[in-house]
Amino acid sequence: MKAAVMRANNAPLEIEDVGIDDPGPGEVLLKTAASGICHSDLHVIEGSLPVPPPCILGHESAGIVEAVGEGVTDFAPGDHVIGCLTSWCGVCKFCTGGRPYLCLTQFSVRPEGSKSRLSSSNGDPIAQFANLSSFAERMLCPERSLVKIRDDIPLDRASLIGCGVTTGLGAALNTVDIPAGASVVIIGCGGVGLAALQGARIVGAGKIIAIDAHPWKFDLAQKLGATDCINATDGDPVAAVHALTGGGADFVFECIGLVTTVQQAIAMTGRGGTTVLVGVVPLTQLVPISAADLTLQEKKITGSYMGSNRFRFDMPKYIDFYLDGRLHLDEMISSRIDLAEVNEAFDRMRKGEAARQVIVFD
Ligand SMILES: NC(=O)c1ccc[n+]([C@@H]2O[C@H](COP(=O)([O-])OP(=O)(O)OC[C@H]3O[C@@H](n4cnc5c(N)ncnc54)[C@H](O)[C@@H]3O)[C@@H](O)[C@H]2O)c1
Ligand SMILES: [Zn+2]
Ligand SMILES: [Zn+2]
Repeated sequence: MKAAVMRANNAPLEIEDVGIDDPGPGEVLLKTAASGICHSDLHVIEGSLPVPPPCILGHESAGIVEAVGEGVTDFAPGDHVIGCLTSWCGVCKFCTGGRPYLCLTQFSVRPEGSKSRLSSSNGDPIAQFANLSSFAERMLCPERSLVKIRDDIPLDRASLIGCGVTTGLGAALNTVDIPAGASVVIIGCGGVGLAALQGARIVGAGKIIAIDAHPWKFDLAQKLGATDCINATDGDPVAAVHALTGGGADFVFECIGLVTTVQQAIAMTGRGGTTVLVGVVPLTQLVPISAADLTLQEKKITGSYMGSNRFRFDMPKYIDFYLDGRLHLDEMISSRIDLAEVNEAFDRMRKGEAARQVIVFD
């Protein structure tokens, strides 16, 4: 099968013929239908998230089951599924405590000494990213990385739910509790931020302020529910939020992952408000913050990982939201591309030229 292989950091992915094994116990083989391109893939390419090459990236995917391994009872050939990188074990304290997205063993590799799920044409192993590796025509996944979905949602739309939508929507619906009428700021109108924005709209937030450095995104942000938009390159966005909210917002979602925008997010958060960190700041970078600002104004900061999901419960619900018109996914797709165009897609992402780009397979 064809796949885009990361052979080195900061280099184009290489389209190669790659081997994929048969499904072993508890595994499911999929024909990949679509894979969104998420900034976390770019973080890996750029070395901000350490994953050693060779590796096949891609983790925002939907597909159709082709075959199942021994013991798999939840899936059968022909099922439509979405993949999620937070696989769960079901027995650790986080799984049994109701937060399976924090599972201690979420990246399940095959037992030591077994054949790699993915390999080069010469048989050398290639690492699988997050149990998924969806920049490839087939995927071989643990069953607990997948959820079966209804088959009346187009799979390109469904793929977005695999990461960006679940992350952004879940940050607003699951990680924090936004009362109706609360003021909300979204920093970064990419796939993740636009989903958080829709979450704020769905829970009935009052002002929903979208911030981006690329003003062409504002039409889209307004269609998806933004009441106000701020161009981050035009004056001080912190002062602009204070002016619009009378001293700071109740909830601020940072959906980029830059040191400066994390600092801005905290500064935009009003007294008693909550800053939600969704973007991934490169692991080697620290963010200086004023602790007194938090203490004296009782601000809270929380991280939000993968939308605090219980994905077998959440993803089918998000599909219902889409099909009943509450969650807009069609508008979020700025282009559909072939696998061979994946490097150009990352260039567009670097330049802020895209909302969500989706690789569609035949
Ligand atoms: N917490 C999680 O579980 C999780 C899951 C998925 C993705 N992420 C992270 O979320 C972040 C966003 O991902 P994405 O796929 O939506 O990215 P994206 O590249 O599609 O979107 C980023 C947006 O930020 C804007 N932007 C860039 N610099 C800016 C600045 N200085 N000021 C204002 N706007 C600016 C860009 O124009 C773009 O619209 C990434 O860091 C990604 O790794 C986190
Ligand atoms: Zn992602
Ligand atoms: Zn677990």
